Amino acid sequence: MKLSGKTVIVTGAAAGMGEAIAKKFAAEGAKVVATDINKELLDPVVQSITEAGGEAVGLVSNIGNQEDIDQMVHEAIERYGSLDVLVNNAGIMDNFVPVGDLTDELWDRIIQINLTGPFKAARAAIKVMEKQENGGVIINNASIGGLFGVRGGGAYVSSKHGLLGLTKNIAATYGIHGKIRANAIAPGGVATNIQSTITEPHELGSKAIGSIGGGTAPIGQPEEIAEVALFLASDASSFVNGAIITADGGWTAG
Ligand SMILES: NC(=O)c1ccc[n+]([C@@H]2O[C@H](COP(=O)([O-])OP(=O)(O)OC[C@H]3O[C@@H](n4cnc5c(N)ncnc54)[C@H](O)[C@@H]3O)[C@@H](O)[C@H]2O)c1
Repeated sequence: MKLSGKTVIVTGAAAGMGEAIAKKFAAEGAKVVATDINKELLDPVVQSITEAGGEAVGLVSNIGNQEDIDQMVHEAIERYGSLDVLVNNAGIMDNFVPVGDLTDELWDRIIQINLTGPFKAARAAIKVMEKQENGGVIINNASIGGLFGVRGGGAYVSSKHGLLGLTKNIAATYGIHGKIRANAIAPGGVATNIQSTITEPHELGSKAIGSIGGGTAPIGQPEEIAEVALFLASDASSFVNGAIITADGGWTAG
């Protein structure tokens, strides 16, 4: 098994890619701290892992809250004795609202969950990983919205660009001068619940996304992203550091 003995935190583990990553990692021998704000969806995920013979604990935890972040790292150490992999996966969308119509409230919420939360979780994880003999791995689930201008609204795209910068800074600092690798995944369209959160798509924002073929993008499955995350978490990627792995079925290749 590729993650035997490793302790992993997966944020946003109750659904979509986080759920697929938590299940895949547990099946590969990891001890999983699965966190999410949605207890109703999180409980069955943890139950399904343990019923399959895996090791996992569920924690209701908001990535926008410092106390919750401290608690999730504490849980990994107290329960399993180490923190080997942090998967910053939880993220939210912004109804494609472009900058001219972006409220302070929406901007702050998207940046808090998609960028500030992952930064704070990485900061807490690094403090632990630095002291461990085998260091650790940080994986940030970004988006092709972190590489291109109109795969979301102004706040979403800015948050994901920021997340890639955070990834590279950690990689170039702690990967070269320490034992912590950091990489990012940039998924394209993936079949998850996140689309249902686009309740009031902004007209201009939608037009901009439509103009680059937003509606015709290939759609991947969460398990296909979990495979990429597994590679980045495992020792198979020992020389991969600071990489952004696009997983979009070729949407942005053309
Ligand atoms: N689905 C896509 O097409 C797509 C494409 C590119 C990138 N992404 C990114 O992938 C990641 C996972 O998205 P998904 O599509 O699996 O979404 P999803 O909505 O299916 O799952 C996200 C999970 O995160 C949880 N969550 C939301 N806010 C949280 C918070 N404050 N604290 C903790 N958990 C929280 C939700 O409850 C949910 O269970 C996100 O960062 C998203 O931006 C998604």
